[in-house]
Amino acid sequence: MAVLVTGGAGFIGSHTVVELIEANREVIIIDNFSNSKPEVLNRIEKITGKRPKLYACDLLDLEATRKVFAENEIDSVIHFAGLKAVGESCAQPLRYYSHNFDATFNLIRAMVEYGVGTIVFSSSATVYGSPKTVPIREDFPLSTTNPYGETKLVIERMLKDMCDAGELKSVSILRYFNPIGAHESGLIGEDPKGVPNNLLPYISQTAIGKRDKLHVFGDDYPTHDGTGVRDYIHVVDLAQAHLAALDRAMAVTGTEYYNVGTGVGYSVLDIVKAFEKASGKKVPYVIDPRRPGDIAECYADPTLAREKLGWSAKFDIERMCKDADRWQTMNPDGYTD
Ligand code: UFG
Repeated sequence: MAVLVTGGAGFIGSHTVVELIEANREVIIIDNFSNSKPEVLNRIEKITGKRPKLYACDLLDLEATRKVFAENEIDSVIHFAGLKAVGESCAQPLRYYSHNFDATFNLIRAMVEYGVGTIVFSSSATVYGSPKTVPIREDFPLSTTNPYGETKLVIERMLKDMCDAGELKSVSILRYFNPIGAHESGLIGEDPKGVPNNLLPYISQTAIGKRDKLHVFGDDYPTHDGTGVRDYIHVVDLAQAHLAALDRAMAVTGTEYYNVGTGVGYSVLDIVKAFEKASGKKVPYVIDPRRPGDIAECYADPTLAREKLGWSAKFDIERMCKDADRWQTMNPDGYTD
């Protein structure tokens, strides 16, 4: 039996595929390469010695999606595929709603038709909106501040409704905090298109001289140094959380929600210092105004994942920065086909 990984060529998807293969799981990938490159498959093969079966198709194509289920013995799904840039979602809400919903509708329709009842869904800490307190527990109130976050929240609710109704057997919702780092081989990592939106790729590109300087968005937040605090988690730790969630989902029924973070918050300037120390490279920066929509502090209480999934993060911030730097240095222009 195989696990179907949608968006398996993406940043988190590719790292999860590597962990799945190394755990001897049969993996099938669907990816439309809208935000990833086919070269990822060569890299996965280099790391693991195995090449996962790939369907280079779009979940928006229901017939193509059905075909993947018809041609394979699939017993579970990890669903990463989707548009994910917060700012872009505010500029193009219709594109985000229609893409993320339609892709998920088609996937779930095919799952129901082919009797596949287990799914691990890639959600985000963005569903907690602006939390009143930190650390954030899974039972905190939910709200969103942008269309991207809204698609995550609505899909969470849809999956729960389907599970309650018996249309799905088991739903595991993983709410990621801030995934960074890269596989220790330096062969796979984060490859953002154009100017990075997220902090770590901006820092690693600045460190190798691709960008002049980092723009720190605000130093007047109520945090220890005035810059925004986040819970950065190594992408390999995050990938391993998917294996733990999948194993549990295969064994239980119902919908479960897990924070996937380390429980530790670092500020933007903490990360700059950690990156400089880990890489031995300078990261020049300037302080700019706050970025609209950003919150001061966001970090997880990861107790539930530890207790129920037996999972907790292993890699520290230095290792995250070292691995991010190795990936960026070995692949200054990302994946070049
Ligand atoms: N930051 C900068 N300069 C940059 C980029 C980011 O100072 O060039 C700061 C931000 O202001 C924030 C921190 O670095 O304080 C982290 O910003 P990111 O853009 O890397 O990440 P966010 O926490 O804003 O967003 C991430 C994911 C979203 C998700 C959100 C909530 O990218 O998908 O976490 O969980 F919705």
